Amino acid sequence: MKTILIVFGTRPEAIKMCPLVNELKERRTVNVKVCVSGQHREMLDSVLRVFNVVPDYDLSIMKSSQTLFDITTNILSKIKNVLDDCSPDVVLVHGDTTTTFATALACFYAQIPVGHVEAGLRTYNVYSPYPEEFNRQAVSIISEYNFAPTQLAKENLLKEGKRADCIYVTGNTAIDALKTTINPNYTHKDLDWCKDSKLIMITAHRRENLGQPMRNMFRAIRRVMNEHLDVKAIYPIHMNPMVREIAREELGECDRIKIIEPLDVVDFHNFLAQSYMILTDSGGVQEEAPSLGKPVLVMRDTTERPEGIKAGTLKLVGTNEDCIYKNFKILLEDKQAYDRMSVASNPYGDGYACVRIADILTNSSNL
Ligand code: UD1
Ligand code: UDP
Repeated sequence: MKTILIVFGTRPEAIKMCPLVNELKERRTVNVKVCVSGQHREMLDSVLRVFNVVPDYDLSIMKSSQTLFDITTNILSKIKNVLDDCSPDVVLVHGDTTTTFATALACFYAQIPVGHVEAGLRTYNVYSPYPEEFNRQAVSIISEYNFAPTQLAKENLLKEGKRADCIYVTGNTAIDALKTTINPNYTHKDLDWCKDSKLIMITAHRRENLGQPMRNMFRAIRRVMNEHLDVKAIYPIHMNPMVREIAREELGECDRIKIIEPLDVVDFHNFLAQSYMILTDSGGVQEEAPSLGKPVLVMRDTTERPEGIKAGTLKLVGTNEDCIYKNFKILLEDKQAYDRMSVASNPYGDGYACVRIADILTNSSNL
């Protein structure tokens, strides 16, 4: 029996790969092994618990305020033993994290085929998002199976010279995950806290936003919140100590902004589903919000997810304080503008991406 090794290390990779792990394990015609890098710890383990995935290997590399050098070198030096022990016929990686890049590099050195889930997203600016744009482009150089979530992602790969017969448009597995988590009867004490107000959900963590851009975001949010007493915000804060310090300094004083620990994925999806709108620099949230019909202000200079902008749910507002302030106010004050952005659509898939990927892999004559 052929062996598929699935490697991931951060919260968003886990959310999008665990449903695929479980789908592949049901097939019983392939041997499925899971290796986590542990680039994230608590935030990764929370997802593994939700999806009942128990890794076969754990590189446990996370350290506080880790650098890109730390993550890359620790994974490279530790994953060789896993590849030797497991002898996979193919290694699946996801998206654009440093776990993804370092694993693909290790597979290249060991001459093991790579399958790239969520392939073909691009901004074509290697510093935005940083380092993710480089990571995903680098993986595309060597990946033999490219699971593009959308037609546009496939076209990016074709433009770069990838062969059409190694690209498969499958939808994004994020939507598969979202289908399993939303519960219309969901309740939570923090949602009770804001039941008489408009609920704003906030997340922020991007490396290129650490420092002044993140201060700008938080200042804009605080200014709007101070002017709109009918609004409350919940901000499940990333565990990065640098994010926490900026948030404490910029948002600590506002009692209608509740900063809480990261939510597990079931809670977070249901908070999104019950929210009025979302402010974020996240990638994954940009995929989930269109399905839920929730307006998102994307606090970044670029996005690799233009499908959500075209669908009308996402608006790219950059990291300038006045621009975020102005756009946030419009969505609170202009009902027509709000309604135009609150339309549910599925540009990122129908929830069957994992089935398609598993079919392709299990039917492949090369495997
Ligand atoms: C990483 C990915 C980014 C992805 C994001 C998802 C890279 C370079 N970055 O960025 O692409 O969008 O994950 O969240 O691959 N920490 C904890 N516990 C955790 C997780 C993080 O304490 O469970 C803290 C640690 O101090 C760690 C820091 O957060 O050093 C930063 O984590 P890191 O993975 O380096 O960067 P992220 O911003 O999370
Ligand atoms: N998410 C979560 N709990 C939270 C915040 C986010 O489960 O408190 C989920 C969210 O639904 C999405 C993913 O984490 O699926 C996004 O992760 P993140 O923003 O950290 O990374 P990115 O998508 O930007 O790489």
